[in-house]
Amino acid sequence: MNKLIAGAIIASTSLIASAFETPTMGWSSWNTYRCNISDSLIMSQARAMVDLGLDSAGYRYINIDDGFQGGRDKATGRLLINLNRFPGGLKPVVDYIHSLGLKAGTYSDAGLNTCGNYWDRDTLSVEVGLYGHEDIDCQMFFNELGFDFIKVDYCGGDPEQNNQRLSLDPETQYRRIARAIRSTGRDDIRLNVCRWDYPGTWVDDVATSWRVTHDIWCGWESVRDIIAENLYLSAYARGGHYNDMDMLEVGRTLTPTEDRTHMAMWCMMSSPLLIGCDLTTLRPETLKLLANKELLAINQDSLGRQAHVLHADSNGGYILVKDLKKLYGNERAVAFYNPTDSVIVLKTTLEDLELTGPAPCRNATNQAYLGTVESWMSITLQPHETEVYTLTGKSRLMRHRYEAETARLGMYQELYNPHTVGTAYYTHDGRLSGGVGVALAGVTPNNDILWDDIYVPAEGDYELTVHYLPDRDAKHFYMSVNDGDGMRIDPAKEGESTTGAKLKCHLKSGLNSVRLFGTGRIPVIDLLEVK
Ligand code: GLA
Repeated sequence: MNKLIAGAIIASTSLIASAFETPTMGWSSWNTYRCNISDSLIMSQARAMVDLGLDSAGYRYINIDDGFQGGRDKATGRLLINLNRFPGGLKPVVDYIHSLGLKAGTYSDAGLNTCGNYWDRDTLSVEVGLYGHEDIDCQMFFNELGFDFIKVDYCGGDPEQNNQRLSLDPETQYRRIARAIRSTGRDDIRLNVCRWDYPGTWVDDVATSWRVTHDIWCGWESVRDIIAENLYLSAYARGGHYNDMDMLEVGRTLTPTEDRTHMAMWCMMSSPLLIGCDLTTLRPETLKLLANKELLAINQDSLGRQAHVLHADSNGGYILVKDLKKLYGNERAVAFYNPTDSVIVLKTTLEDLELTGPAPCRNATNQAYLGTVESWMSITLQPHETEVYTLTGKSRLMRHRYEAETARLGMYQELYNPHTVGTAYYTHDGRLSGGVGVALAGVTPNNDILWDDIYVPAEGDYELTVHYLPDRDAKHFYMSVNDGDGMRIDPAKEGESTTGAKLKCHLKSGLNSVRLFGTGRIPVIDLLEVK
């Protein structure tokens, strides 16, 4: 049994999260300033963070992104700082940030050159990446200068984005960097992997967050597409490790509705929240949105779970849910999200939300009490609009449906074409419930599907039904409960009707894990039903 699966089972003994870091909140220089940064600019943003009271709202990190480097000393190998932009070097800036009670973040690249060197032609950021200088740079960043966070980009390791055509293996290089950070003796450094796609389950071992998309830009299409890319990655946000949807464009040129959706969905999806606008000229409505206590509480919730899709409507809208404070407790956050350009209506029932009523309900986006929900909710949404509600049910109903798109895939990655490398992925297909399922699992047992969150209120025998798409070429596979022996499932062939494979299983009270795996290619898995 691999480590991740064992980890999931250990974690499942308690419904309440043990202590871990919630998503990083702060400010970063890139979105507004790109490489045009300086010591005075960074310090004035840090000052504004405190003056605006955003530090008390939870924003603690001031992150210096690309553009501060000044090459590398050929004789000593030491990283140099751009003295036009930072005449006194970085130390006074970091000290100033710390003197305000904030934390300081830095930036580097896994390879030789940074992205700014390649894309922004920042000539001084050549050979300033960590590759070959992992230890010396980490010593400097964390022991000498006192940084608390590092974002590690990847242009220098991607032959398409560096002039040397250097090509690195992301896992090997990020593991090396993580080891270098650990060997500084600091155990409080947050590492953000910036590889622009979900890199693979190995990233849990090295990073507290990882970018799952290409760079955000200040436009609705960018916000919408990033949300779409993160809709089915909820299984990878666990206990202090988060999918990073990129720095916020809130407060720049999006419409007020789009700004609200951007903020609301980053909060629902437990993304790091790094403000990307100029804090010294912040508009009052932006401050209000960024400091919205109820949305921030959802982002910083102690369970650290990312919302998953409860319902994908044929009108293009989505309903997402997220447990708060306690897994399978009575408190849930629900987002009604309209990515379309039309007015839509989204409906759900308390039963679908697995709550009983009357359920007091707050509109978290407006920070207002809405009343009690007796049995259903119907929300009209303007184009690009999102409303987030928090509900407190009288009690929690048992969950019966566990969609495959909420399960963790042991070898999930987005760096290489899954068809070429044969790793399982989330597939869209109109025949699947919710329109999404898991394809290409099996062949090696680690290329598995794991639900680590199957919850039943009492110990006993339950009927578990695996729904899948019949497929002439699919091989038999196994289901294992709580790490027990695999029970064999022989899938129906294409053309044969199926109501799914039913198995009687003994489940313990509380959380259980169910794993599907095979040594041949298993059929497309749709969902697991528990009765
Ligand atoms: C990449 C990253 C961005 C930013 C720039 C800096 O594009 O994805 O977030 O850090 O590099 O050059």
